[in-house]
Amino acid sequence: MVERLADHVVVMQDGRVVEQGPTHEVLSRPRDPYTRRLIDAVPSARSRGSRLSPSPPQPLPQLTREHRDTDQPVLRLEHVTKRYRGPDRRERTVVDDVSFALHPGETLGIVGESGSGKSTVARMALALTPPSSGRVLLDEQPWSDLAERHRRPHRRRIGVVHQDPLGSFDPRWEVGRTLADALPAQLTPAERTARVEELLTWVGLDGGHAHRHPLTLSGGQRQRVAIARALASAPDVLVLDEPVSALDVSVQAQVLDLLQDLQNALGAAYLFISHDLGVIHHLSDRVLVMQGGHVVESGTADEVLHAPRHPYTRQLIAALPRPHLEEIA
Ligand SMILES: Nc1ncnc2c1ncn2[C@@H]1O[C@H](COP(=O)(O)OP(=O)(O)OP(=O)(O)O)[C@@H](O)[C@H]1O
Ligand SMILES: [Mg+2]
Repeated sequence: MVERLADHVVVMQDGRVVEQGPTHEVLSRPRDPYTRRLIDAVPSARSRGSRLSPSPPQPLPQLTREHRDTDQPVLRLEHVTKRYRGPDRRERTVVDDVSFALHPGETLGIVGESGSGKSTVARMALALTPPSSGRVLLDEQPWSDLAERHRRPHRRRIGVVHQDPLGSFDPRWEVGRTLADALPAQLTPAERTARVEELLTWVGLDGGHAHRHPLTLSGGQRQRVAIARALASAPDVLVLDEPVSALDVSVQAQVLDLLQDLQNALGAAYLFISHDLGVIHHLSDRVLVMQGGHVVESGTADEVLHAPRHPYTRQLIAALPRPHLEEIA
Protein backbone atom coordinates (compact mmCIF):
# COMPACT_ATOMS: atom_id res chain seq x y z
CA MET A 1 0.00 0.00 0.00
CA VAL A 2 2.82 2.34 0.96
CA GLU A 3 4.53 1.51 -2.30
CA ARG A 4 1.47 2.64 -4.27
CA LEU A 5 0.68 5.78 -2.30
CA ALA A 6 3.86 7.23 -0.82
CA ASP A 7 6.83 9.04 -2.39
CA HIS A 8 8.86 8.89 0.81
CA VAL A 9 8.71 6.19 3.47
CA VAL A 10 9.66 6.17 7.16
CA VAL A 11 10.07 2.72 8.79
CA MET A 12 9.51 2.63 12.54
CA GLN A 13 10.19 -0.08 15.10
CA ASP A 14 9.65 0.22 18.87
CA GLY A 15 9.16 3.98 18.66
CA ARG A 16 12.36 4.57 16.65
CA VAL A 17 12.85 5.46 12.99
CA VAL A 18 15.09 2.67 11.70
CA GLU A 19 15.20 3.77 8.08
CA GLN A 20 13.79 6.38 5.70
CA GLY A 21 14.10 7.52 2.10
CA PRO A 22 12.43 7.53 -1.31
CA THR A 23 9.91 4.67 -1.32
CA HIS A 24 11.26 2.77 -4.30
CA GLU A 25 14.81 2.92 -2.93
CA VAL A 26 13.85 1.73 0.55
CA LEU A 27 11.65 -1.09 -0.76
CA SER A 28 14.06 -2.33 -3.43
CA ARG A 29 17.28 -1.91 -1.38
CA PRO A 30 16.37 -1.94 2.32
CA ARG A 31 19.36 -1.32 4.60
CA ASP A 32 17.74 -2.10 7.94
CA PRO A 33 17.11 -5.77 8.89
CA TYR A 34 13.66 -4.86 10.21
CA THR A 35 12.65 -3.32 6.85
CA ARG A 36 13.99 -6.44 5.13
CA ARG A 37 11.86 -8.62 7.42
CA LEU A 38 8.71 -6.61 6.69
CA ILE A 39 9.26 -6.94 2.94
CA ASP A 40 9.99 -10.67 3.22
CA ALA A 41 6.75 -11.15 5.20
CA VAL A 42 4.65 -10.25 2.13
CA PRO A 43 3.79 -13.39 0.15
CA SER A 44 5.40 -13.25 -3.30
CA ALA A 45 5.11 -15.20 -6.53
CA ARG A 46 8.04 -17.40 -5.40
CA SER A 47 7.14 -17.79 -1.73
CA ARG A 48 4.91 -20.85 -2.10
CA GLY A 49 6.25 -23.71 -0.01
CA SER A 50 8.72 -21.49 1.86
CA ARG A 51 8.40 -19.61 5.14
CA LEU A 52 7.44 -15.95 5.44
CA SER A 53 8.47 -15.31 9.05
CA PRO A 54 11.96 -15.66 10.55
CA SER A 55 10.64 -17.96 13.30
CA PRO A 56 11.60 -21.66 12.99
CA PRO A 57 8.84 -24.21 12.22
CA GLN A 58 6.56 -25.06 15.10
CA PRO A 59 7.67 -28.49 16.42
CA LEU A 60 4.55 -30.62 16.10
CA PRO A 61 3.85 -34.30 16.54
CA GLN A 62 2.88 -35.99 13.28
CA LEU A 63 -0.65 -37.15 13.86
CA THR A 64 -1.42 -40.59 12.54
CA ARG A 65 -4.86 -40.47 11.01
CA GLU A 66 -6.97 -43.32 9.83
CA HIS A 67 -5.93 -44.05 6.28
CA ARG A 68 -7.79 -41.94 3.81
CA ASP A 69 -8.42 -42.37 0.17
CA THR A 70 -7.13 -39.07 -1.21
CA ASP A 71 -9.21 -39.53 -4.37
CA GLN A 72 -12.37 -39.13 -2.33
CA PRO A 73 -13.20 -35.51 -1.49
CA VAL A 74 -13.78 -34.59 2.16
CA LEU A 75 -16.02 -31.72 1.15
CA ARG A 76 -17.96 -31.26 -2.05
CA LEU A 77 -20.31 -28.56 -3.30
CA GLU A 78 -22.62 -29.55 -6.14
CA HIS A 79 -24.21 -26.71 -8.13
CA VAL A 80 -24.80 -24.70 -4.99
CA THR A 81 -26.87 -21.53 -5.30
CA LYS A 82 -28.02 -19.07 -2.64
CA ARG A 83 -30.79 -16.54 -3.14
CA TYR A 84 -31.97 -13.93 -0.66
CA ARG A 85 -35.20 -11.99 -0.82
CA GLY A 86 -34.61 -8.28 -0.24
CA PRO A 87 -36.88 -5.86 1.66
CA ASP A 88 -38.46 -5.02 -1.75
CA ARG A 89 -39.47 -8.73 -2.01
CA ARG A 90 -37.14 -9.12 -5.04
CA GLU A 91 -34.86 -12.13 -5.03
CA ARG A 92 -31.10 -11.68 -5.45
CA THR A 93 -28.73 -14.52 -6.28
CA VAL A 94 -25.59 -14.04 -4.16
CA VAL A 95 -24.00 -17.43 -4.96
CA ASP A 96 -24.72 -18.90 -8.38
CA ASP A 97 -24.07 -22.53 -9.33
CA VAL A 98 -20.81 -23.08 -7.42
CA SER A 99 -19.26 -26.56 -7.55
CA PHE A 100 -15.93 -27.75 -6.16
CA ALA A 101 -14.31 -30.69 -4.39
CA LEU A 102 -11.82 -30.42 -1.52
CA HIS A 103 -9.53 -33.42 -1.01
CA PRO A 104 -7.82 -34.65 2.20
CA GLY A 105 -4.80 -32.53 3.15
CA GLU A 106 -5.41 -30.08 0.30
CA THR A 107 -5.86 -26.30 0.44
CA LEU A 108 -8.47 -24.75 -1.83
CA GLY A 109 -8.30 -20.96 -1.93
CA ILE A 110 -11.28 -18.74 -2.72
CA VAL A 111 -10.43 -15.18 -3.72
CA GLY A 112 -12.77 -12.35 -4.70
CA GLU A 113 -13.86 -8.82 -3.93
CA SER A 114 -16.13 -7.80 -1.06
CA GLY A 115 -19.68 -9.07 -1.60
CA SER A 116 -18.67 -11.72 -4.17
CA GLY A 117 -20.23 -14.48 -2.04
CA LYS A 118 -17.14 -16.02 -0.35
CA SER A 119 -18.53 -16.04 3.20
CA THR A 120 -21.89 -17.30 1.97
CA VAL A 121 -20.07 -20.27 0.39
CA ALA A 122 -18.27 -20.79 3.72
CA ARG A 123 -21.52 -20.71 5.69
CA MET A 124 -23.13 -23.24 3.34
CA ALA A 125 -20.05 -25.52 3.63
CA LEU A 126 -20.41 -25.30 7.42
CA ALA A 127 -24.16 -25.98 7.09
CA LEU A 128 -24.96 -22.77 8.95
CA THR A 129 -27.25 -21.72 6.12
CA PRO A 130 -28.94 -24.06 3.59
CA PRO A 131 -28.38 -23.67 -0.15
CA SER A 132 -31.44 -22.50 -2.14
CA SER A 133 -30.55 -25.25 -4.62
CA GLY A 134 -27.73 -27.74 -5.05
CA ARG A 135 -26.15 -29.63 -2.17
CA VAL A 136 -23.11 -29.96 0.07
CA LEU A 137 -21.55 -33.37 0.83
CA LEU A 138 -19.16 -34.19 3.67
CA ASP A 139 -17.12 -37.34 3.02
CA GLU A 140 -19.48 -37.97 0.09
CA GLN A 141 -22.41 -38.23 2.53
CA PRO A 142 -25.33 -35.77 2.54
CA TRP A 143 -24.46 -32.73 4.68
CA SER A 144 -26.62 -29.74 3.72
CA ASP A 145 -29.61 -32.09 3.26
CA LEU A 146 -29.43 -33.56 6.78
CA ALA A 147 -31.72 -32.56 9.63
CA GLU A 148 -29.70 -30.67 12.27
CA ARG A 149 -30.16 -33.42 14.87
CA HIS A 150 -28.47 -35.89 12.49
CA ARG A 151 -25.80 -33.37 11.55
CA ARG A 152 -24.82 -32.33 15.08
CA PRO A 153 -22.79 -35.48 15.94
CA HIS A 154 -20.66 -34.85 12.80
CA ARG A 155 -20.13 -31.11 13.28
CA ARG A 156 -16.75 -31.74 14.94
CA ARG A 157 -15.44 -32.90 11.54
CA ILE A 158 -15.50 -29.39 10.10
CA GLY A 159 -14.06 -26.41 11.99
CA VAL A 160 -13.99 -22.68 11.33
CA VAL A 161 -11.74 -19.65 11.90
CA HIS A 162 -13.13 -16.15 11.24
CA GLN A 163 -11.47 -12.84 10.52
CA ASP A 164 -12.38 -11.47 13.95
CA PRO A 165 -12.48 -14.26 16.50
CA LEU A 166 -13.47 -11.87 19.29
CA GLY A 167 -17.07 -11.98 18.15
CA SER A 168 -17.16 -15.75 18.60
CA PHE A 169 -15.37 -15.93 21.99
CA ASP A 170 -17.29 -15.54 25.23
CA PRO A 171 -15.44 -12.52 26.68
CA ARG A 172 -16.07 -13.71 30.26
CA TRP A 173 -14.34 -17.04 29.65
CA GLU A 174 -10.63 -17.62 30.07
CA VAL A 175 -8.90 -19.06 26.98
CA GLY A 176 -8.53 -22.44 28.74
CA ARG A 177 -12.28 -22.73 29.22
CA THR A 178 -12.99 -21.73 25.60
CA LEU A 179 -10.63 -24.47 24.39
CA ALA A 180 -11.88 -27.09 26.90
CA ASP A 181 -15.44 -26.39 25.77
CA ALA A 182 -14.49 -27.33 22.20
CA LEU A 183 -12.98 -30.71 23.17
CA PRO A 184 -14.89 -33.99 22.79
CA ALA A 185 -17.31 -34.50 25.70
CA GLN A 186 -16.04 -37.88 26.90
CA LEU A 187 -12.65 -36.66 28.22
CA THR A 188 -11.86 -36.69 31.97
CA PRO A 189 -10.99 -33.34 33.63
CA ALA A 190 -7.29 -34.32 33.74
CA GLU A 191 -7.30 -35.26 30.03
CA ARG A 192 -9.06 -32.01 29.27
CA THR A 193 -6.37 -29.91 31.01
CA ALA A 194 -3.62 -31.83 29.22
CA ARG A 195 -5.31 -31.39 25.82
CA VAL A 196 -5.78 -27.64 26.38
CA GLU A 197 -2.06 -27.34 27.19
CA GLU A 198 -1.21 -29.34 24.06
CA LEU A 199 -3.47 -27.22 21.81
CA LEU A 200 -1.79 -24.05 23.12
CA THR A 201 1.69 -25.40 22.31
CA TRP A 202 0.54 -26.41 18.84
CA VAL A 203 -0.28 -22.79 18.08
CA GLY A 204 2.86 -21.40 19.71
CA LEU A 205 1.32 -20.13 22.97
CA ASP A 206 2.37 -21.18 26.47
CA GLY A 207 0.25 -22.67 29.26
CA GLY A 208 -0.08 -19.25 30.93
CA HIS A 209 -2.33 -18.14 28.09
CA ALA A 210 -5.00 -20.57 29.36
CA HIS A 211 -5.74 -18.09 32.15
CA ARG A 212 -6.02 -14.99 29.98
CA HIS A 213 -9.26 -13.41 28.77
CA PRO A 214 -9.62 -12.85 25.00
CA LEU A 215 -9.74 -9.04 25.39
CA THR A 216 -6.24 -9.02 26.93
CA LEU A 217 -4.69 -10.82 23.93
CA SER A 218 -3.16 -9.25 20.82
CA GLY A 219 -4.85 -9.83 17.46
CA GLY A 220 -2.25 -12.45 16.50
CA GLN A 221 -2.60 -14.30 19.82
CA ARG A 222 -6.38 -14.26 19.51
CA GLN A 223 -6.15 -15.75 16.04
CA ARG A 224 -3.85 -18.48 17.41
CA VAL A 225 -6.50 -19.27 20.07
CA ALA A 226 -9.20 -19.37 17.37
CA ILE A 227 -7.07 -21.84 15.37
CA ALA A 228 -6.48 -23.96 18.51
CA ARG A 229 -10.21 -24.01 19.18
CA ALA A 230 -10.94 -25.05 15.59
CA LEU A 231 -8.41 -27.90 15.93
CA ALA A 232 -9.74 -29.12 19.31
CA SER A 233 -12.12 -31.62 17.72
CA ALA A 234 -9.48 -32.92 15.24
CA PRO A 235 -11.51 -31.83 12.18
CA ASP A 236 -10.93 -33.18 8.67
CA VAL A 237 -11.78 -29.79 7.18
CA LEU A 238 -10.98 -26.28 8.37
CA VAL A 239 -12.88 -23.35 6.86
CA LEU A 240 -10.71 -20.23 7.20
CA ASP A 241 -12.69 -17.08 6.32
CA GLU A 242 -10.22 -14.17 6.00
CA PRO A 243 -8.18 -15.47 8.96
CA VAL A 244 -5.27 -13.04 8.46
CA SER A 245 -7.05 -10.00 7.02
CA ALA A 246 -7.08 -8.07 10.31
CA LEU A 247 -3.39 -8.73 11.08
CA ASP A 248 -0.36 -6.65 10.18
CA VAL A 249 1.98 -8.13 7.60
CA SER A 250 4.58 -9.61 10.00
CA VAL A 251 1.92 -11.23 12.22
CA GLN A 252 0.11 -12.40 9.07
CA ALA A 253 3.36 -14.11 8.02
CA GLN A 254 3.61 -15.94 11.37
CA VAL A 255 -0.01 -17.12 11.22
CA LEU A 256 0.33 -18.29 7.59
CA ASP A 257 3.49 -20.22 8.54
CA LEU A 258 1.66 -21.71 11.52
CA LEU A 259 -1.27 -22.83 9.35
CA GLN A 260 1.19 -24.50 6.96
CA ASP A 261 3.02 -26.28 9.82
CA LEU A 262 -0.27 -27.46 11.31
CA GLN A 263 -1.46 -28.81 7.98
CA ASN A 264 1.81 -30.68 7.43
CA ALA A 265 1.50 -32.30 10.87
CA LEU A 266 -2.23 -32.83 11.16
CA GLY A 267 -3.29 -33.29 7.55
CA ALA A 268 -6.57 -31.31 7.67
CA ALA A 269 -7.95 -29.94 4.40
CA TYR A 270 -8.32 -26.13 4.27
CA LEU A 271 -10.96 -24.04 2.54
CA PHE A 272 -9.05 -20.76 2.66
CA ILE A 273 -10.88 -17.52 1.88
CA SER A 274 -9.23 -14.17 1.27
CA HIS A 275 -9.57 -11.04 -0.87
CA ASP A 276 -5.75 -11.04 -1.22
CA LEU A 277 -4.53 -13.07 -4.21
CA GLY A 278 -0.94 -12.96 -2.88
CA VAL A 279 -1.98 -14.71 0.34
CA ILE A 280 -4.21 -17.15 -1.57
CA HIS A 281 -1.41 -18.07 -4.00
CA HIS A 282 1.08 -18.55 -1.17
CA LEU A 283 -1.04 -21.09 0.71
CA SER A 284 -3.33 -22.78 -1.79
CA ASP A 285 -2.94 -25.82 -4.03
CA ARG A 286 -5.95 -24.85 -6.14
CA VAL A 287 -7.75 -21.53 -6.45
CA LEU A 288 -11.29 -20.39 -7.28
CA VAL A 289 -11.82 -16.75 -8.27
CA MET A 290 -15.30 -15.41 -7.43
CA GLN A 291 -17.02 -12.31 -8.71
CA GLY A 292 -20.67 -11.40 -8.17
CA GLY A 293 -21.58 -14.87 -6.88
CA HIS A 294 -19.97 -16.71 -9.82
CA VAL A 295 -16.76 -18.72 -10.04
CA VAL A 296 -15.10 -16.88 -12.95
CA GLU A 297 -11.82 -18.80 -12.93
CA SER A 298 -10.33 -21.91 -11.34
CA GLY A 299 -7.07 -23.82 -11.58
CA THR A 300 -3.88 -24.60 -9.70
CA ALA A 301 -2.45 -21.65 -7.76
CA ASP A 302 0.32 -21.19 -10.36
CA GLU A 303 -2.05 -21.46 -13.34
CA VAL A 304 -4.29 -18.75 -11.95
CA LEU A 305 -1.36 -16.44 -11.17
CA HIS A 306 0.79 -17.03 -14.24
CA ALA A 307 -1.83 -17.75 -16.91
CA PRO A 308 -5.05 -15.97 -15.90
CA ARG A 309 -7.89 -16.21 -18.40
CA HIS A 310 -10.56 -13.97 -16.92
CA PRO A 311 -10.20 -10.14 -16.97
CA TYR A 312 -11.16 -9.97 -13.28
CA THR A 313 -8.27 -12.30 -12.35
CA ARG A 314 -5.91 -10.07 -14.35
CA GLN A 315 -7.24 -7.10 -12.40
CA LEU A 316 -6.49 -8.88 -9.11
CA ILE A 317 -2.97 -9.63 -10.33
CA ALA A 318 -2.41 -6.02 -11.36
CA ALA A 319 -3.28 -4.97 -7.80
CA LEU A 320 -0.50 -7.11 -6.24
CA PRO A 321 2.56 -5.38 -4.71
CA ARG A 322 5.29 -4.61 -7.24
CA PRO A 323 7.88 -7.19 -6.03
CA HIS A 324 5.22 -9.84 -6.62
CA LEU A 325 4.55 -8.51 -10.14
CA GLU A 326 8.24 -8.32 -11.04
CA GLU A 327 8.59 -11.99 -10.15
CA ILE A 328 5.63 -12.94 -12.33
CA ALA A 329 7.03 -11.00 -15.29
N1 LIG B 1 -28.45 -13.05 5.34
C1 LIG B 1 -28.39 -12.32 4.23
N2 LIG B 1 -29.49 -11.70 3.72
C2 LIG B 1 -29.45 -10.97 2.59
N3 LIG B 1 -28.33 -10.78 1.86
C3 LIG B 1 -27.19 -11.35 2.30
C4 LIG B 1 -27.16 -12.15 3.50
N4 LIG B 1 -25.88 -12.60 3.68
C5 LIG B 1 -25.17 -12.10 2.66
N5 LIG B 1 -25.95 -11.37 1.83
C6 LIG B 1 -25.48 -10.68 0.60
O1 LIG B 1 -24.79 -11.62 -0.19
C7 LIG B 1 -23.70 -11.03 -0.88
C8 LIG B 1 -22.44 -11.83 -0.62
O2 LIG B 1 -22.06 -11.68 0.76
P1 LIG B 1 -20.80 -12.43 1.38
O3 LIG B 1 -20.76 -12.09 2.82
O4 LIG B 1 -20.86 -13.86 1.02
O5 LIG B 1 -19.60 -11.74 0.60
P2 LIG B 1 -18.02 -11.88 0.81
O6 LIG B 1 -17.45 -12.26 -0.50
O7 LIG B 1 -17.74 -12.75 1.98
O8 LIG B 1 -17.60 -10.36 1.14
P3 LIG B 1 -16.45 -9.80 2.13
O9 LIG B 1 -15.15 -9.92 1.37
O10 LIG B 1 -16.84 -8.36 2.33
O11 LIG B 1 -16.48 -10.60 3.39
C9 LIG B 1 -23.63 -9.60 -0.39
O12 LIG B 1 -24.21 -8.76 -1.34
C10 LIG B 1 -24.46 -9.60 0.89
O13 LIG B 1 -25.04 -8.36 1.11
MG1 LIG C 1 -16.79 -12.43 3.83
